[in-house]
Amino acid sequence: MLILAIESSCDETAAAVVSMGENERKILSNVVASQVETHALYGGVVPEIASRAHIEAVSHVVRRAVSEAGVELSQIEAVGVTYSPGLIGCLLVGVNFAKSLAFSLGVPLIPVDHIKSHTAAAYFFDMSLSAPFLSLVVSGGHTSLYNVTEPSVYTEIGSTRDDAAGEAFDKVGRVMGLTYPGGAAMDRLCTEGLSNRESGPRAREDQIVFPSPAINDDTFDYSFSGLKTCAVNHIHNWRQKHSVADKGEIDRGEMAEIACAFTQAVVSGICKKLELALESTGEKRLVLAGGVAANSHLRRGVRELCEKKGVTLYVPPVSLCGDNGAMVGAQCYFEYLSGVRASTDLNAYASGEGAAAAAALKKI
Ligand code: KG4
Ligand code: ZN
Repeated sequence: MLILAIESSCDETAAAVVSMGENERKILSNVVASQVETHALYGGVVPEIASRAHIEAVSHVVRRAVSEAGVELSQIEAVGVTYSPGLIGCLLVGVNFAKSLAFSLGVPLIPVDHIKSHTAAAYFFDMSLSAPFLSLVVSGGHTSLYNVTEPSVYTEIGSTRDDAAGEAFDKVGRVMGLTYPGGAAMDRLCTEGLSNRESGPRAREDQIVFPSPAINDDTFDYSFSGLKTCAVNHIHNWRQKHSVADKGEIDRGEMAEIACAFTQAVVSGICKKLELALESTGEKRLVLAGGVAANSHLRRGVRELCEKKGVTLYVPPVSLCGDNGAMVGAQCYFEYLSGVRASTDLNAYASGEGAAAAAALKKI
């Protein structure tokens, strides 16, 4: 089945054509128009600017996705669109575009949840992945662990109680002076910090230790705000001690050490709760997804944990960890199979709870 999928929940306007079937999961095109350069000027996503940029980009992005896939619009059999969660103005652009397109093509319109889509990116690379499994989605807006009993049935069993991991990476990066979003740069800095630790310049007693984001109880919950504040305070203190102005440059070695200590706290905290969840559910399959799943240190840490526990790990390639249309197309297929359809009165919902309430009222 040929699916055209649209994603516009945050700062990427994305569209893809995917071919999905019982024995096929194929990406024919996957076009992403990123707005990061625009938002970098402000140090974060400005919702109003993001919505306008989606309006400008959406028709070009969709047209390119169709032409790069080498198909005609008339061959499309369903249109999938992210309708929740995300920035409401941004979601509405994709939802309204998808509605008109599905209506004009006379094909089903399928509303797709953004978090489930992140997980669904993993379906493309291993046909053996099928529910039940656990999925940890770590992104700029979420850090949640789900028990996936069917491809479209997700039960949250753990989550962050405050900031998302990606949000914390970006904030610490920003305070250090990195361009928004700082996650990928923090990843590289951490690698540098690790090698400084190994090759000597950072003596053992001089290494920073930040608090764990794993909440000290038997839930599978996290809290990243304490860790974030601790790292930010450390940076401010360093600047004061070295008489460096507010936005002044920190020493490169110190930056690498901060990124290293911060990342280690994130990875070991995430793995601690994951281990607990794997033990208590007995689940033998785990998906790691979302923008922060691109982090090389997190990928390694979770892979090592899974090897130790005899758990099969499914993690999308880095190129499919961030927001994209292909992941929406994959989830769209499973929603389609489970009978989900929307009409032209489909709305967008900023939160998953809003979408669930609408579903309960049979509005979706
Ligand atoms: O999933 P995503 O593209 O958007 C949301 O749904 O939020 O995730 C974006 C987040 C940003 O916070 C970005 O800094 C982070 O993913 N990110 C990373 C890496 N690549 C992207 N964080 C840590 N290490 C990376 N390599
Ligand atoms: Zn996302």
